[in-house]
Amino acid sequence: MKLGIIGSGMVGAAAAFACTLRGAASRIVLVDIDTARARAEAEDIAHAAPFAGATQIDAGDYDDLAGSGIVIMACGVGQKPGETRLELLGRNAAVFRSVVGEVMRVCPDAILLVASNPVDIMGQIAQALSGLPPGRVIASGTILDTARFRWLLGRHLGIAPRSVHAYVLGEHGDSEVLAWSAARAGSISLQGFAEQVGAPLTPEVRDRIDNGVRRAAYTIIEGKGATWYGIGAGLARIVSAIAQDEGAVLTVSTLGDVMGVQDVACSVPRVVGAQGVTEDLVPDLSPAEADALRASAEMLRDTAAAVPV
Ligand code: LAC
Repeated sequence: MKLGIIGSGMVGAAAAFACTLRGAASRIVLVDIDTARARAEAEDIAHAAPFAGATQIDAGDYDDLAGSGIVIMACGVGQKPGETRLELLGRNAAVFRSVVGEVMRVCPDAILLVASNPVDIMGQIAQALSGLPPGRVIASGTILDTARFRWLLGRHLGIAPRSVHAYVLGEHGDSEVLAWSAARAGSISLQGFAEQVGAPLTPEVRDRIDNGVRRAAYTIIEGKGATWYGIGAGLARIVSAIAQDEGAVLTVSTLGDVMGVQDVACSVPRVVGAQGVTEDLVPDLSPAEADALRASAEMLRDTAAAVPV
């Protein structure tokens, strides 16, 4: 499967690197207005390919995207220290207005995978500009937040993050919802597992983990200016689910109806395969979690409504 990546900054390059290590795509084309950067990233990542498989990776222009099954949109500006993701909306919407049309001109059958923040609304903008069915415009959403949640829970419980089944829902941002009530570990309720291993989920532990997920990006950006490895790996996970037609259940963001809020883009568990998103799932939530998810969806719907496409 051929993968196009628009934007060879840290996120786009990390996604290309992660896809190369996973062997998620047979061919990767990096497109960026900074062609020297795109060429340098492509050549650097290409030197990793012999350790991982046979991925061909090059830099190119929009016409070189022809035949791509998936195009990752990682273009635009990132958060500065202390900046929220929503504050990037005006600048990145303008970038998408100039980019999406070019992508659709060259590969109208591609699935768009959006990474630019604020990712939920940027995914909705990409869907409106492209005219693709909602299931074929996927934003990474809370796939990264869900990974952070599982990683912190795994550390607390002393188990592998992959043995933790827990989701973060709603906005990839400050209003996101950690679905504690439905979380499980090794097919046991989270609370039950924690008690069995002597690692109780006290209110202090819950607050620490909630803060560790919700504030992760701000903390990392303060220290190194941006995040890229986690989101790069999350994008590669989605690419693999599509390329292998896995039918994987992932918390990703597409335009849909969430908790009664119509035409909103935010994350719930969704089935991801070769056709993109094929099912939106309604998670089991406590009343407080359901209210918080609804509030997150309403905020995103109202914020998106104010953006001219
Ligand atoms: C983060 C960026 C990708 O959460 O929004 O790290």
